[in-house]
Amino acid sequence: EHMHNFLKELPKCEHHVHLEGTLEPSLLFNLAKRNNIELPSHFPPTVEACNDRYNRFADLQDFLDHYYIGMSVLIKEADFYDLAMEYFAKAHADGCLHSEVFFDPQGHVERGISIDTVVEGFDRACKEANTKFGTTNKLIMCLLRHLPASSGLETIQGAHKYYESGIIHGLGLDSSEKPFPPHLFTECYKTLKDKFPQVGLTAHAGEEGDHTFVTNSLDLLNVTRIDHGVNSQHSEELLERLSANKTLLSLCPLSNVKLQVVKDVSELPIDLFFNKNVPFSINSDDPAYFGGYILDNYLTVHTRFGFNGHQWKQIALNGINGSWCDEDRKTELRRLVDEVHNKYKH
Ligand code: ADE
Ligand code: ZN
Repeated sequence: EHMHNFLKELPKCEHHVHLEGTLEPSLLFNLAKRNNIELPSHFPPTVEACNDRYNRFADLQDFLDHYYIGMSVLIKEADFYDLAMEYFAKAHADGCLHSEVFFDPQGHVERGISIDTVVEGFDRACKEANTKFGTTNKLIMCLLRHLPASSGLETIQGAHKYYESGIIHGLGLDSSEKPFPPHLFTECYKTLKDKFPQVGLTAHAGEEGDHTFVTNSLDLLNVTRIDHGVNSQHSEELLERLSANKTLLSLCPLSNVKLQVVKDVSELPIDLFFNKNVPFSINSDDPAYFGGYILDNYLTVHTRFGFNGHQWKQIALNGINGSWCDEDRKTELRRLVDEVHNKYKH
């Protein structure tokens, strides 16, 4: 109870959540109705059937097959806004003060939705959440690695004005990992970084792929953050590099269980990363599909690893240090962490 309140109040930063992965079955069916979308007959027909099916994904691809059908109900600017606002309200209720959120424009553009509709809805929600909750929020556009690099380059071109204005802050890489290694996207990352040197670069790596996916993302894509990165545990040299460069791993414990990367959160190398000073944050990935938001992920890690207050403070600070907000905001977040840590010290 004491620890639950502490972890809830502890100022948290989320670095790994896909907005399309926050589409709760209830909103999914509401939007399907609102937009007259007929879901395929093999898609679970009710909220209960969704939750049941979402509980037994065989692997990443099995999840992605549902995720891409789910996002097909998102049509209008207001749909993207509603989706993101639902997430920001939940994150705020969980004590998350800063969110850097992914979205997959190619999953919408290929259905005939313009990238402007997607970005304008999400951006409006980011600003509204800042006004309403005081949270800070950044958009990270992801490229789908199962699509060719040429599509990625077109997507980057289509998002040009949003990088220029700072409405989109970062670039990531997601979808099926193992068949689509990082080197395929070298030109995409270089093109964007050359044009916008201030852009933040990250990529999913080492979720189902081995540790070379992590190393190659660092070497070829010049990312400064790794999403998941769990399989970094199998290379001593890589662990030292991540620690020396303070490269943040955005871990998603409940996701790893639901996608059968591990059988239980206790099998994740979280104490190894902590002891080797590899910075990590704890995140929700696709919370509507994996049954838990950021606080659930923190609480599950706590039950398995039992970190003390000092260790949790260090984890929260590592998340702030690895965030892409400005220094003033980081200073404020660190002060808030101190406050909560002091309040719960005894
Ligand atoms: N897209 C949404 N969630 C993902 C994940 N965990 N890995 C790869 N692609 C994703
Ligand atoms: Zn992810």
